[in-house]
Amino acid sequence: MSAPRLHCLMVLSSAVEGVSAQSYIQAYTLASSNFSIQLASPHGKNVEYVQQDDNNRRWFNEFRSKASSNPIAFETVDSARYSALLIPSSPGAVHDLASNTELSQIVNHFIREKKPICAIGSGVAALCCVMSPDGKSWGFKTYSMTGPSVFELARTQEFSSLPVIVEDFIKDHGGQYNNSEMDAVHVIIDRHLITGQNAHSTLMAVQNLTLMCAQNKHAVSGSRDMR
Ligand SMILES: *[C@@H]1O[C@H](CO)[C@@H](O)[C@H](O)[C@H]1NC(C)=O
Ligand SMILES: *[C@@H]1O[C@H](CO)[C@@H](O)[C@H](O)[C@H]1NC(C)=O
Ligand SMILES: *[C@@H]1O[C@H](CO)[C@@H](O)[C@H](O)[C@H]1NC(C)=O
Repeated sequence: MSAPRLHCLMVLSSAVEGVSAQSYIQAYTLASSNFSIQLASPHGKNVEYVQQDDNNRRWFNEFRSKASSNPIAFETVDSARYSALLIPSSPGAVHDLASNTELSQIVNHFIREKKPICAIGSGVAALCCVMSPDGKSWGFKTYSMTGPSVFELARTQEFSSLPVIVEDFIKDHGGQYNNSEMDAVHVIIDRHLITGQNAHSTLMAVQNLTLMCAQNKHAVSGSRDMR
């Protein structure tokens, strides 16, 4: 028999701006070959997968017929169960995840335990919610990371109404931000944090996540339960 699969928590926005359909399919498909996946969203609300096309609409129709496509609420997540956290590119993240206090608690568990976290493109905005346990600084202060550049965001219609500009937030809160050209595949790994600049970086980011988990002895002994 093969070893039991590690559990991966996939964090999704339920804002109307949604989760990128393409990034989601790539992240989910790749991750589900190595992990058993649990979806979670604010209050377990429904997720909008945006920018669907004729090809992936069929994929979503099938996906939605499975019970596992229903997210659970952040409040009910038992973080100790999961070896990895994955946030796909999500235009909605900046609206309902970037200041979510329940999500902050979940991510703090992953930081404390140094468990792999992978955030991609506009999904990197979700990391903005994380306050250090003393509430005085940002949880990812001193981390090197990437995320959507101001140039990439400036092309979108909602640019002027974005509550948070990821690049500015990271720089203003003590993180090390770096990016590549617009739409380039670009992934930065710092300790247990993997970030991808944009939706095009999804595959490379998730590949790194699976590799990191395979190497991570802490994650494999998933019974290191701190409750
Ligand atoms: C992920 O799953 C694929 C397909 O099951 C397998 O070939 C690959 O070795 C796994 N990768 C890791 C890092 O465990
Ligand atoms: C971004 O990374 C490149 C390559 O490592 C480096 O040359 C550049 O100075 C970095 N830029 C910033 C702003 O840190
Ligand atoms: C992991 O990310 C690095 C960039 O940080 C990249 O060079 C490497 O190819 C990635 N690994 C995989 C398996 O995608």
